[in-house]
Amino acid sequence: MTAFPGAGAPLGQALEEIHAAAVSSPGVGRVADYIPALASVEASRCGIAFANLDGEVHAAGDAGVPFSIQSISKVFGLVLAMQRMGDELWQRVGMEPSGQPFNSIVQLEWEHGIPRNPFINAGAILVADILVSHFSASRQAFLSFVRRLAGSERCDINESVLASETRHGSRNAALAHLMKSFGNLEAEVEEVLAHYFFQCSLEMSCEELARSLLFLANRGVHPPSGEVITTPRDAHRVNAILSTSGMYDQSGQFAFTVGLPAKSGVGGGIIAIVPGQGVITAWSPPLNRHGNSSRALAMISELAGRLGLSIY
Ligand code: DON
Repeated sequence: MTAFPGAGAPLGQALEEIHAAAVSSPGVGRVADYIPALASVEASRCGIAFANLDGEVHAAGDAGVPFSIQSISKVFGLVLAMQRMGDELWQRVGMEPSGQPFNSIVQLEWEHGIPRNPFINAGAILVADILVSHFSASRQAFLSFVRRLAGSERCDINESVLASETRHGSRNAALAHLMKSFGNLEAEVEEVLAHYFFQCSLEMSCEELARSLLFLANRGVHPPSGEVITTPRDAHRVNAILSTSGMYDQSGQFAFTVGLPAKSGVGGGIIAIVPGQGVITAWSPPLNRHGNSSRALAMISELAGRLGLSIY
């Protein structure tokens, strides 16, 4: 189950080279500041990690430094909701790319409060409603789930990011209220938003994130523990939506150039699933105009190209 033929030193060396090239390239983009607490992160931070199905993690740069995972949390939320609700979930959220920015509101009105997919903000807020409605303590359930997957009790919420998200969350509140008005939210809006902001405020390192998502590269079985997290069919489904919608309005370009299921967050992280092989995570805070980290994109693209990882 080794990631690549002759992995180890060659993979570690490739990660070092790719990291060095990213650090020396001119920084493109801006650190997210619409959530003010995110703006204080050092723009020069940069890391990359690859976890293989044997649980070995190769890494370079700041791969051990926790950062705000933001929208990457939508993957954990979706998997937990799929475990709890089964196929009924897909009556309330779609599986199509939105072709709109991640926090757009217009489409939600046209489409009667049914979000296009679980990875835009409206879709993740809908998933948060499912979690709030199915768990007596959804935030604790979410945190325990992620810690178990990462094999680390260290993963935790950044309280100042949580306060900042909550204070500057008017657009997300608008999305939630609109869905409520269409009858597509069960719980109280405040409670749903509290869960959504909580999960977005989670901090994890590249190494922890890569390890925690290995089940998606392994047909739903988590290699470190052997625990069944999803059926093979549901792992397929999550990867499919990651491929079409995980990089927002840049998902088509990412499929065209890289060819892996992936998810970004405005904290500057990107995870990419390599089915049958492992998970790549890269982090660098400055974002391009789509809200995706430009250096993390470049690093994953280079690694996937060198090793021929595209699924297509
Ligand atoms: O709700 C928000 O806008 C943020 N907490 C998360 C957005 C995000 O990460 C989008 N990712 N590219």
